Amino acid sequence: MDSELYQRPKNKPAGFQPDFDTFHVRYKDGMRTVVRAIFGIENRGGDASQTIKYLRTLFNETDGPQIIERGTVIGGQEELFFCYWVNREAYQRWNTQNSVRDFFENDLALSGDIGRWRETGIISLTHHETNYSHDVDLTGFSALDGTHREKCDLCGYWGAARDRIPISAEDPLLPYGEVRVSSLGKRATIEASGNMCVIRTSQDWIGAPAAHRDWYLSEVEPVLHTGADFLRDHRAEAGTFAARYIRETTLDGAPLDRTCVLGYFHSLADLEKWTHTHPTHLAIYEAGMKLIYQFGADLGVRLYHEVTIFPRGQFDAEYVNCSNKIGLLQAL
Ligand code: HEM
Repeated sequence: MDSELYQRPKNKPAGFQPDFDTFHVRYKDGMRTVVRAIFGIENRGGDASQTIKYLRTLFNETDGPQIIERGTVIGGQEELFFCYWVNREAYQRWNTQNSVRDFFENDLALSGDIGRWRETGIISLTHHETNYSHDVDLTGFSALDGTHREKCDLCGYWGAARDRIPISAEDPLLPYGEVRVSSLGKRATIEASGNMCVIRTSQDWIGAPAAHRDWYLSEVEPVLHTGADFLRDHRAEAGTFAARYIRETTLDGAPLDRTCVLGYFHSLADLEKWTHTHPTHLAIYEAGMKLIYQFGADLGVRLYHEVTIFPRGQFDAEYVNCSNKIGLLQAL
């Protein structure tokens, strides 16, 4: 792995040893960038099945994504696909080809009750961290070619997430600039403000023993739901541009025993502030710790997150025929 991706922790207290192991993703030499583009369909009451079917055929074209995961926004109107590429040029070739452009730019997309959108982050691995509760290929980064997982002792204290981000040793990752809009209306194109911080979490109880699943669903999930709703509904207080609580599904749309939260924060400091101090995350944290201590190393519920900071120019989005309740449109 390139030396620029080594962590140089500044927050870890001297002599601190975490109570439990977590794992982080490591990369093969020369790997510095991953693209995560999220594609969404906003359905305000029409039949989105043909649009979704067509979008899925685009993923199969040359240079399409290496990983595709699907979900439905809980309490919302969006279906979305998380797509990952390890090759940035392949993403750019795919995204600029006629069939993909036509999906967004065809005038037929401008009418009716169906909106379509794309939110793309060019992830610099120097500006990124992952944290897995288990050494399993769960979701997101761990399934990418050229990656493996290793045990990580930068966990169990506030500031560990920042310590896991390599560039944080020399860059405070302060936010700068505004969200920029190059067009508005039925076809909006938007660029995120500098150092926007995006988190995708994962809560997975696929195959968990019934006692673990029942504990998670009765004690942890309700407080997680409250926290995710807070991030969505109180954006000024939370420091978020947008947040979605998502039920993950198979590619055909059948529900899986897995959810994720996709949160767009103004900055890493805003994410930390909510995580370290807000009653909604503290309640999630407490419920999660009880679950971990109850079932120990055999816990069948698996937790994960990936966090990225995007310097100006590394995150852009396009929204076609969408309402103003979608993604970064809420930032305007
Ligand atoms: C069931 C869901 C969740 C559980 C059980 C949970 C629990 C925890 C625990 C136990 C930690 C401390 C872990 C460590 O450092 O080793 C932690 C840290 C963290 N959590 Fe959560 N959490 C959950 C959901 C979320 C969500 C939805 C977000 C954001 C949208 C989030 C953001 C974070 C961040 C950024 C940290 C790292 C803080 C730091 O190191 O400074 N968590 N969480």
